[in-house]
Amino acid sequence: MNDGKDWYAWHSPYTDTGSPLAQRLGLVQQHIAEWLDGRPGEPLSVVSMCAGQGHDVLTVLSSRRDARRVSATLIEYDPRNVAVARARVVAEDLCKVTVMQADAGDLASYSNAVPADLVIMAGVLGNIGNADARATIHALPRLCAADATVIWTRTRRAPDLTPTIRTWFADAGFTEKAFTAPAGVLFSVGVHRFTGAPLPLAATGRIFRFLQ
Ligand SMILES: C[S@@+](CC[C@H](N)C(=O)[O-])C[C@H]1O[C@@H](n2cnc3c(N)ncnc32)[C@H](O)[C@@H]1O
Repeated sequence: MNDGKDWYAWHSPYTDTGSPLAQRLGLVQQHIAEWLDGRPGEPLSVVSMCAGQGHDVLTVLSSRRDARRVSATLIEYDPRNVAVARARVVAEDLCKVTVMQADAGDLASYSNAVPADLVIMAGVLGNIGNADARATIHALPRLCAADATVIWTRTRRAPDLTPTIRTWFADAGFTEKAFTAPAGVLFSVGVHRFTGAPLPLAATGRIFRFLQ
């Protein structure tokens, strides 16, 4: 499915706190924490699409006293990353986090995880074709609960697709809450709030394939 790239090694720059990837991670973590703070006391659900080793959601949950009000499902294809995330879940006693080894491009993988109050799409939209990116954004109403938030990232390497991505979010029933595109780096991080009506999850159907 995605035999070309070593998605385990891809995580290495996270150990360098000055790397653009670590900066991106910090922003995503900040948005997750702000989302939690914005919905105090509520039981909440999270799904992370192509979750990798889960550094975003696991780091935030492990730092919070209210982690147990959050049920999270991490969907990741690479078994090495799944093993790292699962080991951390056990070590940090994050008992309401499930790490699934599954294809996040297949809607069937979400059947036990949605509708979610937060959908994390970090490192997805830059690794799939433009038609798949559009299809994935348009499928989000099937994954989102009412008033859900989506946190997403996308490189701005030319040709920068982020202006188009932001219009796709609007078309799919989302309101932009934040879009951060720091100078000197190529990454960007967006936060959109779902203001449309949730749709049922279609049992099957492919929304994307990774290009590499
Ligand atoms: C760019 S990394 C992002 C990882 C993580 N979201 C982060 O930002 O740290 C992309 C991840 O998607 C995973 N992946 C690729 N294709 C996938 C698929 N079809 N289903 C689930 N995960 C997939 C890779 O193994 C890799 O861990």
